[in-house]
Amino acid sequence: MIKEFLRRLFLAFTKNTRIYRYTNIYASANIGKNCVIGSYTEIGDKVRIGNGTKIQAMVFIPKGVVIGDDVFIGPRVTFCNDLYPKASGAWKVSRTLVEDGASIGAGCTIVCGITIGTNARIGAGAVVTKDVKPNQVVAGVPAKQIKSNWKHE
Ligand SMILES: CC(C)(COP(=O)(O)OP(=O)(O)OC[C@H]1O[C@@H](n2cnc3c(N)ncnc32)[C@H](O)[C@@H]1OP(=O)(O)O)[C@@H](O)C(=O)NCCC(=O)NCCS
Repeated sequence: MIKEFLRRLFLAFTKNTRIYRYTNIYASANIGKNCVIGSYTEIGDKVRIGNGTKIQAMVFIPKGVVIGDDVFIGPRVTFCNDLYPKASGAWKVSRTLVEDGASIGAGCTIVCGITIGTNARIGAGAVVTKDVKPNQVVAGVPAKQIKSNWKHE
């Protein structure tokens, strides 16, 4: 009951953001306007997402991730937030920032503690372990530059 109330309250504050079924969003997450969030996605504690961002199905976004405006996140993208995970005991959140206009292809893994720069483009299936510069295009495992200057059409 309270969960449903919080969900409706959340939707009221995120005007024009469409959230598809079976998605789990923590009440402490902050999502902007005009976003689309696909099914089976998890958006964790205190995650921040800007305006106009499109997140496709089955994406995992845990605590410590901040996503800007007009970002594209393809299906099955996984963000991490703990570089050396273990089942019990203390752990430390490593923060990840995705800047405005970046695009992350289907099935990528974003290893934590990095910044993906403005308008950067990540190829499908990449494992990103280091910062990606603005407008840089990277792909592969681990992700390496394939083009230096992505231009939007
Ligand atoms: C990364 C991407 C944007 C590059 O597109 P592009 O600029 O047109 O690049 P090109 O096709 O000219 O490829 C350049 C080189 O990178 C390689 N490459 C392209 N995408 C790659 C990828 N995802 N992983 C590994 N290598 C890749 C190409 O094989 C090519 O290598 P070569 O020079 O040895 O032949 C695109 O290939 C991609 O992966 N887009 C994401 C698609 C996606 O996930 N969409 C989600 C919605 S369903």
